[in-house]
Amino acid sequence: MATEIDTRTDTRTDTRNDTKNGTATDTRYLFETGSDHGRVQVDCLSAMLDSTTTGVLDDLGVREGWRCLELGAGNGSVARWMAQRVGPTGSVAAVDIDTRHLDPAPGVTAYRHDVNDDLPEDGPFDVIHARMLLMHLSRREEILRTLAGALAPGGWLVVTDVSDRLPTAAAGIDPGPAELFDRVLDTGMNRVGRPAGMNLEWARDVGRHLRDAGLEDIHGLEDAFTARGGTPAMLYYRSLIKQLEEPLQAAGLTTDDMRQFCDLVTDPQFSAWSYQFVTTWARRPTTRR
Ligand SMILES: C[S@@+](CC[C@H](N)C(=O)[O-])C[C@H]1O[C@@H](n2cnc3c(N)ncnc32)[C@H](O)[C@@H]1O
Repeated sequence: MATEIDTRTDTRTDTRNDTKNGTATDTRYLFETGSDHGRVQVDCLSAMLDSTTTGVLDDLGVREGWRCLELGAGNGSVARWMAQRVGPTGSVAAVDIDTRHLDPAPGVTAYRHDVNDDLPEDGPFDVIHARMLLMHLSRREEILRTLAGALAPGGWLVVTDVSDRLPTAAAGIDPGPAELFDRVLDTGMNRVGRPAGMNLEWARDVGRHLRDAGLEDIHGLEDAFTARGGTPAMLYYRSLIKQLEEPLQAAGLTTDDMRQFCDLVTDPQFSAWSYQFVTTWARRPTTRR
């Protein structure tokens, strides 16, 4: 049976030192995972990325008996895939600061927990996966070192985040809609996301941090694609905009801009690029060097 364990402390607004800029930063996660738009957000991520993610995990040999840790688990789709793979002799700990959409599943222990507060289970783990999480956390480098230390010898750490190559309208889209799409994305990422602590340089640098944490066998994969209005990759954008209406307005977008943007991303005649998702993985050496 699935179990849920609540280790909550009130840490949604967490002002700590940003090690990159040396300035105090509000590190509160920008989105409301438990809201209806948050549900669409995590479901769209699953639709866009699960085949890539499970393809990587499959290649790494996730199998019966493995101990898995899924961080920032969202709707739990990857945790459920892991639980099916590892069977009753394995284990899956699925961790999220907001578990309202972490659907229960046999073999998955769900933790309502803030990863800034260390891990809810000590491990060791045969695989740890964090998708679209660490880029949001100011203590990402420290957390990554903790994760590396929680791996079993030979265990894998898999991280996916987005790069600074922002989505743009696809070639051939009329200039008006293309300008609107590009401007809304630029405002969202550069004038709202970045100031709130979203790091778009991190994804391409994860390999170096994995190496510095003592891991080896480092590999990477980049994933970007065009999609038509109304498909999960486009509805994902709408879910983000709906959650950030106030800060977007403060950053210069009008309510009309946002309404037109939401119409655009549901229009099957419209097409745009996805984010560039960068997945990096590495493993803990099996022997001491
Ligand atoms: C962008 S969503 C990605 C969800 C899922 N990993 C996926 O890719 O489909 C980020 C997830 O991390 C969770 N999260 C954000 N900050 C967190 C924290 N400090 N500790 C644990 N989970 C966190 C959010 O609630 C959300 O479910």
